[in-house]
Amino acid sequence: MRVAVITSSDSGAAGMREDKSGPLIREIVTGLGGQVVSYTLLPDEQRQLEDAMKSIADSKAADLILTTGGTGCSKRDRMPEATAAVSERNVPGIPEAIRAYSMQFTGRAMLSRGAAGIRKETMIVNLPGSPKAIREVLEYIYPHLEHGVEILTGAASDCAREHSHG
Ligand code: MTE
Repeated sequence: MRVAVITSSDSGAAGMREDKSGPLIREIVTGLGGQVVSYTLLPDEQRQLEDAMKSIADSKAADLILTTGGTGCSKRDRMPEATAAVSERNVPGIPEAIRAYSMQFTGRAMLSRGAAGIRKETMIVNLPGSPKAIREVLEYIYPHLEHGVEILTGAASDCAREHSHG
């Protein structure tokens, strides 16, 4: 699976704080057999986030866009809005699963407003911003995202034949 990583962080984009979450996603995805094809670090600006996601999806540069950051309740957090704006279809089960699974680690998981959607043949999934959160959820959701992308791109057509749902 070809994965594009987008980090939304004002302080990261301004060079005031090192982005640890984007590189961590790359490390985990690579360890799980995926291929990270791009990494983009942007400020929490909705328009810029939308443009980055659109350009990746419209050029079919990645099967999956994993974003990190910008999902909380601060005034600058706009990743869910950017994701909804560029998505043609919503995939609510993914953020539902992320939040439900995350509640075992921290009740604050309920504060992440992360979304997921589909634009053309690319799936977009928002992850929270902290490396801790990424470590907790990415391995858990990844195999299921792979299956979703296979169905989306036509590489698999039959969910019923899959045996190891996990
Ligand atoms: N999810 C998991 N699994 N682990 C976490 O530590 N932190 C939460 C939440 N989701 C957390 C988590 C916190 S404290 C916040 S504020 C939100 O994610 C939003 O984070 P973001 O604004 O960096 O995207």
